[in-house]
Amino acid sequence: MTRREDLRSQTDYKSDPHTRLKHAFYRRYIACWMGKVLQGRWAKPGTIIDGFAGSGMYSDGLDGSAIMTAKLFREHICRPNFQPLTYVTNDLDPRRCEALDGRMKGLPLDDGIQHVPVGPKKFEDIVGEVRQKHAPRGKQALWIIDPYGLKQIPWSIVSETVTVPKNDAVITFMADEAHRYRTNPAMVSVMGSLYGDDSWKNVPDRLTTAQSKAALVKLYCDKLEALGCHTSSFDVDVARRYTRYSLIFATHHQAGLECWNSAKWSADPTSGRGASAATAFQPSLLEPDIQPLIDDFRKRIGVHDFTALVSRAQILGHTEPHVRTALDELFREGLVVRLSPATAPKNSPWPATCRIRIFEAGPDEGEDGGAS
Ligand SMILES: C[S@@+](CC[C@H](N)C(=O)[O-])C[C@H]1O[C@@H](n2cnc3c(N)ncnc32)[C@H](O)[C@@H]1O
Repeated sequence: MTRREDLRSQTDYKSDPHTRLKHAFYRRYIACWMGKVLQGRWAKPGTIIDGFAGSGMYSDGLDGSAIMTAKLFREHICRPNFQPLTYVTNDLDPRRCEALDGRMKGLPLDDGIQHVPVGPKKFEDIVGEVRQKHAPRGKQALWIIDPYGLKQIPWSIVSETVTVPKNDAVITFMADEAHRYRTNPAMVSVMGSLYGDDSWKNVPDRLTTAQSKAALVKLYCDKLEALGCHTSSFDVDVARRYTRYSLIFATHHQAGLECWNSAKWSADPTSGRGASAATAFQPSLLEPDIQPLIDDFRKRIGVHDFTALVSRAQILGHTEPHVRTALDELFREGLVVRLSPATAPKNSPWPATCRIRIFEAGPDEGEDGGAS
């Protein structure tokens, strides 16, 4: 037994710094999800399913994901407008289920949130029933899938959680483990179960560790996209190793991406890629790297609504402010003009309602945009 396994054999165990980062990321995303899903004219009651919920608390006092989210609901600035939330929890460990139940009951009363404990069971054994009872077609649901390892998330089960529109998922994908398993003959069946097929065998052999992890994460996202989802990921680096795990996000709705992208650029203001506990959510001296977005816009010659450009940017993992910065840059290069409205304040030339023309760069227009 490793020391880590020994610790984890206790009901509550000590949190790692990266657990705090993961929770800060969850908080950011879930607060936004609640604000979008649970309030407004068309809002309906929603469900969060915390499939690997743990005990609700770490031995050093950090709230577990379920307690953190239940508190977040109660303390959310928009709480008075919220539709009810059903919070379904499960864990394989009966001691953790019991501890979590007690801790949920110990929170201040709030009629708007109903805790539904369904464990102790394997995640794969609760999905069908939970879907039927708490996340049927048409209900807005968020699945938090946060296992210790890859063996607990067979593709057949994960794919079932995200096939229905309005079901979003945040999946902890152990990229380190997938990278090691990929070349271990004893793990062929685990990898087959993780991806649901042999596609992972096509990841090229001679990649660096970082490239291999990135390829495995991308392949997983591609498979989710084949089910009709938008996806994105955020890498969690641990002990100077890039991408110990990735938080992989799947959603059917652009609004979901808006929340996710905002969380990832807050956590990593320079690249939106990933962070370690030491670097996350720190202000950066560097500007955000939006070059891929600028390059994408360069190819979109023609007339566009600003909102359509924002949609495109969200799919590429960017945010609305990035669109404005990209347009500023292309305007400086002489490649963009605002068609309407005819006038706009000097300090906000790209209002949300504007229409824009993007021009093709001439052959002689280099980096500085052919000044004459
Ligand atoms: C990474 S911890 C979860 C931490 C929790 N989500 C949080 O952020 O506070 C993983 C949990 O999954 C539970 N677990 C392990 N195998 C499982 C399975 N097959 N199904 C459901 N839970 C499982 C463990 O008991 C453990 O509490």
